Order: sequence, then structure tokens, then C-alpha cells
Amino acid sequence: MSSTPTPFEYRPVDGHDELCCEAVPLARIAAEVGTPVYVYSRSELERAYRAFDAALAGTDHLIAFSVKANSSLGILSVLARLGAGADIVSGGELTRWLRAGGAADKVVFSGVGKTEAEMRAALEAGILAFNVESEEELVVLDRVARGLGVRAPVSLRVNPDVDAQTHPYISTGLKQNKFGIAATAARDAFHRAADLPGLDVMGVDCHIGSQLTKTAPFTDAIARLTELVLELDRGGIRLRELDVGGGLGIDYGKDGDAPPPSPGEYGAAVRAALAPVMSLGVRLVCEPGRVIVGNAGALVTRVLYRKRNDVKHFTIVDAAFNDLMRPSLYGAYHPMRPVRRTDRAAQVTDVVGPICETGDFLARDRDLPALEPGDLLAIGAAGAYGFSMASNYNTRPRAAEVLVSGDGYQVIRDRETVDQLLANERVAE
Ligand code: LLP
Repeated sequence: MSSTPTPFEYRPVDGHDELCCEAVPLARIAAEVGTPVYVYSRSELERAYRAFDAALAGTDHLIAFSVKANSSLGILSVLARLGAGADIVSGGELTRWLRAGGAADKVVFSGVGKTEAEMRAALEAGILAFNVESEEELVVLDRVARGLGVRAPVSLRVNPDVDAQTHPYISTGLKQNKFGIAATAARDAFHRAADLPGLDVMGVDCHIGSQLTKTAPFTDAIARLTELVLELDRGGIRLRELDVGGGLGIDYGKDGDAPPPSPGEYGAAVRAALAPVMSLGVRLVCEPGRVIVGNAGALVTRVLYRKRNDVKHFTIVDAAFNDLMRPSLYGAYHPMRPVRRTDRAAQVTDVVGPICETGDFLARDRDLPALEPGDLLAIGAAGAYGFSMASNYNTRPRAAEVLVSGDGYQVIRDRETVDQLLANERVAE
């Protein structure tokens, strides 16, 4: 298994080894834009998209980037220009995608709770498919579509009841999860949908979870879907699309963790699993998020203080769990490196932010070269579910975002201001 080349490498700058994104020293970005700041490599984003696309070459397919992984306009616009589609879960994500220059007819709309207003907006934009998750949603979508005098393209999300073997919060394909229509009820749901005049039943969909590190759960789920496609075909419902969702994991660099399959291995496994339905002319749709954008981003933060008590050493930085929730929420591991390489001795430390909760940590018991106030630290593999999950807790303006290309960079999001945070509020009368 080949490890992915990282766009974040040390390079000699003024007599020091400085961590750079492509050819731009992270210290330069921190000095000019401030910290905390998310820094993305455009070439890595493009490389990852193209690698995933190449892995599916030879099979008719659409890559619908899962916008929730990173919904910044600067990132979406790069992917839209490469020809990507989008997997969205809200009217807000639809607006973002269209404003980034994305094509409406490459959008799939997932999610268990679409509102009528969101359905109308998506129908008016002319999206590719609604991934419908319940029989009640089918009835509402049919009514909304007929009200507009159109037919809504529908793919039914089936819950295949397979164990994705990932963190329980991001596992979605088990019976006890809220997602999709039970595999046992799927055939009847398809026939019911086919009888509704406002719907054009065109596909079947699943998504079993995120950060998967094996191919077997994907291929088990696809096997259930292909059986269903063949059964429906025999019953007179011919589907045009099979959407396998997203979920391919990335390597977060934690010792002892098995690396996930490469896009090439994933693509080969998916294509083999789809073989039974290929003669029906079914197009493959994928909804990858993390694997496209995860390794392209780092969160750069500055050390404020250090302290030690009887049992622990803490490194207090200016980023917090409002900026990167994954460690606190999922116990996730993100690699960390000092921005200036140092030969200082290692120090086992908890890297924590300024937020007033014990849950506010970015790493626990991490072996890092001893850091000093003013030093910069880069938190890696933060391109997916980093900024997009950021909040304003503790009235912390959200970080700036920067897109690096070669030896230059563009600020794709200004740092938020406190005035912006307060703009929608008023004191009580
Ligand atoms: N399609 C659907 C319907 C999804 O719900 C998701 C992710 C994806 C595609 C994209 O999955 P990916 O390829 O990125 O694994 N916040 C969590 C991850 C939540 C994933 C939610 N759904 C994290 O930080 O790990």
C-alpha cells in the first residue's frame, strides 16, 4: 500500500527547516493572515480528486463530492472546475455549490429530513437526484413536484444492514441507525414510489459510514444493492443509477492503525461488486468527501502558554475544539508537527485550546518536540470535517482559510469578526 505524498513538507528557509504547504512556508501565512488558520494545498486537492476519478476509469461514473466534508466556496470551486458533482444535505449546501460554479444536474440530495422549501429549491435548480430516505418523504416529494408541474428524480436510500466497523457516531448502515429504508422494506417502497406520478424512480443509494478502512463493508453493501436492482428489473422497474455513497477513509498517521485501502484498491473492489448490474447500463455514483479533501488541509495554530501539574503537561494553543471538533467528538487522532523543525527533546503533552471545558483538547498524551510560547504547530489531515464543523462557541470568531498554489496563496475566507457574530442579535426591549 503506497502512502499518499503529503503537500506539507519541511524545506530549508533562512537556515531553518520550515514546514511548507507546497512552496509557501506556513510561518509566512501565519504572520500575514494570523492564527488559527486553515491552509489547503490546491495541488493535493486536485491530485486526490483525479486519483479517485482514475480509480473508476472504464466505468460510467459520477463523483459527487460530499459538500459537508468541506463546504468552503474556494474548495468547492476548485472541485467544480474539475468536473465534480456534489452530494448535499441542505438547501444551504445547494446554494453554496451553485455559487461556487457547480453544475446543478450533478447534485444528489441526501439526508433524512429534507423540508418542502429545500425540495422546491432543488427541483427549481434541476438536480440529478433526491436520495429519499423514508416512505413519508416520498409522499411529500411527490406532492411538491406535482405542485411545480415537474417530476422529481428519485433514488431510494436503502439501509443494507452492514457493519462499517468505524466509530459508532459515523456508522450509518446498521439496522439501528436512522438512515435509509430497511432492506426488507425496500422492494415495496420502490413499487410504491413508481406509482406516484410526481416521481421518476431512477436509482438506488446507500451510505454505510465514514472513515472506513476496509473494502469488505462496501462490497457487502453493494452486493445487497445489486441483488435489489436485478429483482426490481425483473419486476418492471429499471434503474439508471447505483449510488454507493462515500466513506473511504484516510491515513491519519496513528501508530498501529492499519492504512485504509487506496482509491485504486477501493475502485477495483467497487467495480467488481457492480459487475452483476453492468449489463443493465447502470451508472455508478460515488459521494466521497474525506478522501478528496482530508489530506489537503492543515490547521495552523500558535502556542500561547505551557503548564505542568502533578500528573500532566499542557500546551495551550490558540485553536480550540470550536475550530477542530474531531478529537473531542470522536476521539480522533490528528498528526501534529512544529512548523519550524527543532531538535528540542520530546515532551509528552496534552495540546489544549482556550475553551472552558475539559473536553477542549486537540491531542492527549502526545509525544511532541517541546514547544515554547510563540511557536507554531501544524495539525495535519484537517481538510475534511475541520472548518465545516467549526462553531462560534465561547464567542470565538471562526478561523481564516487559505488556498496555496505553488509559491502563492489566496485567502479564501477572511477571519470572522466579533461584529459579524453579533450582527443578527439585539438586546431585549
Ligand atoms: N454521503 C453521505 C450520505 C454521507 O452522510 C456522508 C458523510 C458522505 C457521503 C461522505 O462521507 P466521507 O466520504 O467523507 O466519509 N464528521 C465526521 C464524519 C461524518 C460523515 C457524515 N456523512 C468526522 O469528522 O469524521
